[in-house]
Amino acid sequence: MTALPLISLRSVSRTYRTDGIAVTAVRNVSFDIAQGEIVAVMGPSGSGKSTLMNMIGLLDLPSEGTVHLEGANVAELSEDRRSWLRARSIGFVFQSYNLLARHNAIENVALPLVYCGINRKERLARAEQSLQAVGMLHRAHHFPRQLSGGEQQRVAIARALIASPLIVLADEPTGALDSRTGAEILALFAALNRSGQTIVMITHDPSIATQCRRTIRLHDGELVSDETVAELLPRRSAAS
Ligand SMILES: Nc1ncnc2c1ncn2[C@@H]1O[C@H](COP(=O)(O)OP(=O)(O)O)[C@@H](O)[C@H]1O
Ligand SMILES: [Mg+2]
Repeated sequence: MTALPLISLRSVSRTYRTDGIAVTAVRNVSFDIAQGEIVAVMGPSGSGKSTLMNMIGLLDLPSEGTVHLEGANVAELSEDRRSWLRARSIGFVFQSYNLLARHNAIENVALPLVYCGINRKERLARAEQSLQAVGMLHRAHHFPRQLSGGEQQRVAIARALIASPLIVLADEPTGALDSRTGAEILALFAALNRSGQTIVMITHDPSIATQCRRTIRLHDGELVSDETVAELLPRRSAAS
């Protein structure tokens, strides 16, 4: 049996309409992502990267075309079912970390499990494992303001991993970090991918994309290339 792609986009377009003006942010995009891939999505600002991510992450639906997650057309699911699927299947990581300021690291990480109906004791036990996986267990009781940017992003990644998602979607995850810290976060994603995690990472930083075997490029909402390399280039040192 051939494995079904995890996610499959066919002729996907997304048009925003505001004040009678239509902006087509994504235009006629098709690709599949298989389990275990790590994919960089690149393109200049305004090229439709976040719009595409919102559709892959079940936060938004295409205006035209289809998105299938594990074979199910996501537009045919009820809103409740789509939210349910999103909570279990997608882990989100954002440029600005999006941690809750009034909750400490372990509470932030445990939060998504509330929506999965898991009791508090179990939530905290799993949050500890997830913090351990990103090297942040020693900061479990720190609040976001007591953590560096790189530490906050590690906590956010632990939160994204907590429900064992099919896919981790990261939108410019290193965009707010200095290059050395960004390289460390990237190395963490690479390690997670080596242990089987499927990752889609949006970036406009070419040095980040070279760490992913596959790169999808967007320009003005259109897919202009989708390339997989056999060998990764050796990583440049973070200091260079
Ligand atoms: N909610 C929205 N309403 C209207 N236009 C939007 C909205 N979100 C994005 N756009 C427009 O769609 C285009 C693509 O935006 P976006 O997907 O955010 O690109 P990127 O993430 O590559 O910078 C831009 O022209 C942007 O202004
Ligand atoms: Mg964006």
